[in-house]
Amino acid sequence: MKILVIGGGGREHALVWKIAQSPLVSKLYCAPGNPGTASLAENLPIAIDQLDKLLAFAFENKIDLTVVGPEQPLSLGIVDLFESHGLKVFGPSQKAAYIEGSKAFSKDLMQKYQVPTAAYGVFTDQAEAEAFIKSTGAPIVVKADGLAAGKGVIIAQTSEEAISAVRDMLSGNAFGTAGARVVIEEFLTGEEASFLVITDGKNVIPLASAQDHKAIFDNDRGPNTGGMGAYSPAPVVSHVIHEKAMQQVIHPIVDGMAAEGRPYRGVLYAGLMVKNGELKTLEFNARFGDPECQPLLMRMKSDIVPLLLAVAKGDLGGMAIEWHDKAAVCVVMASEGYPGDYRKGELISGLEQAAEVVDLHVFHAGTAIKDGACVTNGGRVLGVTAVGSTVKDAINAAYQGVSRINWPGVQYRTDIGKKALERL
Ligand code: AMP
Ligand code: GLY
Repeated sequence: MKILVIGGGGREHALVWKIAQSPLVSKLYCAPGNPGTASLAENLPIAIDQLDKLLAFAFENKIDLTVVGPEQPLSLGIVDLFESHGLKVFGPSQKAAYIEGSKAFSKDLMQKYQVPTAAYGVFTDQAEAEAFIKSTGAPIVVKADGLAAGKGVIIAQTSEEAISAVRDMLSGNAFGTAGARVVIEEFLTGEEASFLVITDGKNVIPLASAQDHKAIFDNDRGPNTGGMGAYSPAPVVSHVIHEKAMQQVIHPIVDGMAAEGRPYRGVLYAGLMVKNGELKTLEFNARFGDPECQPLLMRMKSDIVPLLLAVAKGDLGGMAIEWHDKAAVCVVMASEGYPGDYRKGELISGLEQAAEVVDLHVFHAGTAIKDGACVTNGGRVLGVTAVGSTVKDAINAAYQGVSRINWPGVQYRTDIGKKALERL
């Protein structure tokens, strides 16, 4: 089979790494890919939003399966476009990807299908938003309705902070059109988990549990990022929480999306907040989480290709996923200044030395090759991911890898996986 992976981050490097292990694959492409995917696939110089060029390539080269990593091409309708030309593609349609593309839509959907979530209001008018904030009080959460790369959520500690966040969003200064409508919601406390499933719209197979680390600094301090590290399995997802997630969140949403005329195929990612044996849903994503994808795929024992193909064909019934009985931990190494402004082009040292650590893989996210050397080229630069018999072993191995890699201004969290240790 010829397979095309779309995207160029750590998630896509992990997908390419996993897909390349399948005996079913004869040729693997990645568009645009990164220096990490280049060693396993042929990178194509096509950006993720150049849908016509991606289609032309897939059509002319008779690609058997296209796997879409990021949300942007999904929201632009890449799946609809490819399918209308008879091509098989893994990912939700544009209408289904709206579950991530609009937080207002996803909140209304949860309310309609009685999925537990924080109390909320949706606003386009500053005065109405202010009145809501004043009546509710702080802390309170302000979210841009549209896509904002995981950064469109402000946890406001005071009403003034919330009002000013709303003003920035509604004026279009922050997040452009994505902020033209805002969701304002109750602040929830508890422990977060990333609960991912694959579904063909009817059949659902849960992936192993995972936990992200959204804040930039240790102990969940500082602004939110796309994710600074992840591990799997996540002990916070006990058997009881797993069952509740399936019965109270995943099945109602998969069935609800079908009932709404938006049948959902692909990965459905529910961000959960768990407290005292109960859960609430923070958000849905229409794709694999990044960095969650990296530890999850290192733990996946099954060949991923038949699963992706079955989802694309709407034929997942009777399939199952096997997992290695190990833990995996991913530590993200990021550029100085991220999630704000950061420099690019810093020389990365120690990649070869890190690769010598057993059961470790360095997934590339924001890297580039300049004058034959690997340099930083994004906010999140590398996902150093290791497996171990226990989460402690996996943490130690991942940080052993991290300690061998360096560049001017490198930053990373030193507490990835700590919450798992606290629960053991
Ligand atoms: P979202 O994109 O909606 O998942 O929000 C990103 C992150 O913001 C989440 O992973 C949480 O850490 C935080 N967050 C979002 N909504 C809430 C909430 N209602 N209460 C507390 N934290 C939240
Ligand atoms: N790591 C969170 C996300 O992919 O949205």
